[in-house]
Amino acid sequence: MSRTPGAPTPPLRLAVLISGRGSNMATIARACRDGKLNATVTVVISDVPTAAGLDLAQEFGVKTRVVPWQGAAARAEFERAIARAIDLSAAELVILAGFMRVLSPALVERYAGRMLNIHPSLLPKYRGLHTHARVLEAGEREHGATVHFVTAELDGGPAVLQSRVPVLPGDSEATLSARVQSTEHIIYPRVVDWIATGRLQWQNGQPQLNGKPLDAPVVEDFTAPGQLASGQH
Ligand code: GRF
Repeated sequence: MSRTPGAPTPPLRLAVLISGRGSNMATIARACRDGKLNATVTVVISDVPTAAGLDLAQEFGVKTRVVPWQGAAARAEFERAIARAIDLSAAELVILAGFMRVLSPALVERYAGRMLNIHPSLLPKYRGLHTHARVLEAGEREHGATVHFVTAELDGGPAVLQSRVPVLPGDSEATLSARVQSTEHIIYPRVVDWIATGRLQWQNGQPQLNGKPLDAPVVEDFTAPGQLASGQH
């Protein structure tokens, strides 16, 4: 899926996969609703029936689907149902936003170049879970979030945009994760916008930004004091 920069195009159709709170999904749905993104969320899919994000999606008038995780033995069936829900919505881009299931290489391949994830760390550092706690434990001075294309390698696909935030003295997991999350809500809609406007394309298995191969992610630096809303910095 690639769009031509400058050409008039219908709203980019997004399927958003969640497992929990859904704040990234809501930020993207709000930007679509407010006309800040030339995109539309066609379906929100959750593997967790009680995910709070499902109610949020309904508040935005977005269709929801629950595909419950039934254990590893039923993985193939689970993934078929996920793919069916995505394809029925005619989504052009799949957004993983706090979706806590690891997808098989076959499913990832089906959406190659059309699936994004946001991970709460400065990838390639701190792949996997509990990133904020691990960053604090390691005594890091900086942390952040990364929007990346999804490949079969967990948290390993090409990174597109990162936010960098400071780790402050006295930070807890909660204060640090809130600071990172506030930047996720800036960078995730921005990457969707880059795709919707054709600035970001997937060519021969690689991202291209403004017509040039993107060898390293663009970094948005929030480490200077006063850049984030009060209480977050
Ligand atoms: C975010 O911190 C994201 O980085 C991670 O899961 C969290 C989802 O939060 N992948 P929310 O459900 O969007 O509020």
